[in-house]
Amino acid sequence: MKIGLLGFGVVGRGVYEITESREDMQVTKVLCLEDISLPDAQAVKDYKSIVEDETIDTVVEAMGGLHPAYEFVRAAIEAGKNVVSSNKALVCTFYDELLPLAERMGVKFRCTAAVGGGIGWLSELERARRVQKLTRVGGIMNGTCNYILDNMTRFGLDYGEALSQAQKLGYAEANPSTDVDGIDTWHKVILSANIAFGVSLDRDSVPVAGIRNIQAKDVENFKAHGLVCKLISTGTQAEGAYSAYVHPTLVKEGEPEAAVPLNYNLITFLGQTSERMSFYGQGAGRYPTAYNVVQDLVDVLAGRGFYAPYGSRVTADNSEKLTWYVRGGWAGDVQEVWDGAVVTKPVSVADMHAWLKENPDAFIAEIR
Ligand code: HSE
Repeated sequence: MKIGLLGFGVVGRGVYEITESREDMQVTKVLCLEDISLPDAQAVKDYKSIVEDETIDTVVEAMGGLHPAYEFVRAAIEAGKNVVSSNKALVCTFYDELLPLAERMGVKFRCTAAVGGGIGWLSELERARRVQKLTRVGGIMNGTCNYILDNMTRFGLDYGEALSQAQKLGYAEANPSTDVDGIDTWHKVILSANIAFGVSLDRDSVPVAGIRNIQAKDVENFKAHGLVCKLISTGTQAEGAYSAYVHPTLVKEGEPEAAVPLNYNLITFLGQTSERMSFYGQGAGRYPTAYNVVQDLVDVLAGRGFYAPYGSRVTADNSEKLTWYVRGGWAGDVQEVWDGAVVTKPVSVADMHAWLKENPDAFIAEIR
């Protein structure tokens, strides 16, 4: 396999290093805007030099961002090349275009590293759904948010202090909003649900709330009630109805999610036969993520392409009623008052997220 590598940042460099020692695949060209010199590959500045190179059969996209990654990936598929990407925003946003295009062109397309970094999550969903119906996917999919919440819980830090620590350690992405406002998790759960359920979720029907408004006093409230706050994603299917959402969630101390430390991920599916299966590990970082890119390359070599058949567009119906912790302006029915906050009577996911849009300074969390 001759590989053209798009991007030579954290993940791209890791892919290059891992493939250097392999006999079955070789990176022959690297798209990189800086001047670099590599012992075994040619560094190029124009993507056409990769897309038009007939000796290259597979393109690895490790650039991140939507543009120009989308244009380059599309051109690579149209040129008949297999594509492996670690870019969740790209695959989630252009799901309805890239998958049918890859199928029409008869090329393989995989993106295991896009969710869970080094965890074999999407590739295991592929195996899981061969023998059973999956009814639920989701969990802790963002290491930066978990690091912030874990530090607030264990050491009583303020949100701002915990965020600066995450930034110093290089966990938060260039724009922390992608992590703390839940966008990264939102891309990941939509992609997971699409693959698990064989559908294409309408992204506008999937609401997201992040952790930006959490305060140390909220965490004190949770501790007083034996609860731990995590940013948790959920996707479900039941009798042709789908739901999907992302928001802070309070889990009981002693639940597996409550114990997830630092920047780790814990992602779970429920299957009708297997029941609960959970996957724990490093959801980011050079070598874990590059490891899963190389796993995908091995699968492409073996002729294995995308995980699920491309499915029809469906809307998430978030009518499920949940109980919520709310701090800031809730005027609806209440079952308990906590210090400076309330526990609501059951309110649907759709209604609570609509209320939050009108009250953007409030903090909400589902109570499980
Ligand atoms: N920024 C992400 C995280 C990693 O913190 O988990 C890349 O998806």
